[in-house]
Amino acid sequence: MVAPSDLVYPLFVKEGTNQREPIPSMPGQYRWSVDRLITEADEVQALGIPAVLLFGIPDHKDERGSSGYDPEGVVQRAVRALKGRFPDLCVVTDVCIDEYTSHGHCGIVKDGKILNDETLECLCLMAATHAEAGADMVAPSDMMDGRVGAIRDALDRRGFKDIPIMSYAAKYASCLYRPFRDAASSSPVFGDRSSYQMDPANAREAIREVQLDVEEGADVVMIKPALPCLDIIARTRAEVSVPVAAYQVSGEYSMIKAATQQGWMDESSVVLETLLSIKRAGADLILTYYAKDAARLLQPSCP
Ligand code: PBG
Repeated sequence: MVAPSDLVYPLFVKEGTNQREPIPSMPGQYRWSVDRLITEADEVQALGIPAVLLFGIPDHKDERGSSGYDPEGVVQRAVRALKGRFPDLCVVTDVCIDEYTSHGHCGIVKDGKILNDETLECLCLMAATHAEAGADMVAPSDMMDGRVGAIRDALDRRGFKDIPIMSYAAKYASCLYRPFRDAASSSPVFGDRSSYQMDPANAREAIREVQLDVEEGADVVMIKPALPCLDIIARTRAEVSVPVAAYQVSGEYSMIKAATQQGWMDESSVVLETLLSIKRAGADLILTYYAKDAARLLQPSCP
């Protein structure tokens, strides 16, 4: 059985006030300004969902994604606001510069190439500013080599030894992230992400990536997308002793939404069956845009 306590709700946070901007490719999902995020988080907590994952949508993007590691950045302010109001809500932050770079890549780019080590410096700063703001866990999603170890060191050096890292350990180069990229305006302006995300045809590479992240200090390893990777989730569960998370990504959400809005399937049944399958495969945590709907469906009925 899936329980609301297994779920993590991803949220997009933007600049401004009193904003609740619908995301066209993800019906029912919004870009929230920090003040409105508080109301949403209130509902999330009331439904028994223990954690949220924050993605920032800045007003200003540049080559190095510097608004992502500004202590006054939109995610840093959102974390402070959420933790001030809901100390028991687990606030997880996405650590990746693609939402903040003008070129939309997850790394610093020079002459058309991604610079792995220069990117690590930005990621470390970003994780540190999130931790300083009060984040309970950081989730690097960039797939640069060595980032988990580098972020672990950076956090430890600044006195954040207790802040866990949930690494996107096996992140396939999937077409299912497309609605997210619309939501975050983060589609790469040139090339694609296949130099740093994984080839869907390769399963053993995923296990290797997971093991490397655990060796570097990952406290939770995440697999994404979820439904196309049930085999990887199951293999990962068998390989490692840390908790395994699975991300039912934007495209998975939007496919279910589109088909059920047409009346071709029943939304609640699809949501519960997919989440159950992800759990059965071995996921201890499920990140899903359906968290609120699922939690409502899973509330224990009154006696
Ligand atoms: C990168 C990131 C992405 C997602 C989570 N973190 C986008 C990408 O790799 O293109 C996708 C999540 C989703 O599709 O819901 N910061």
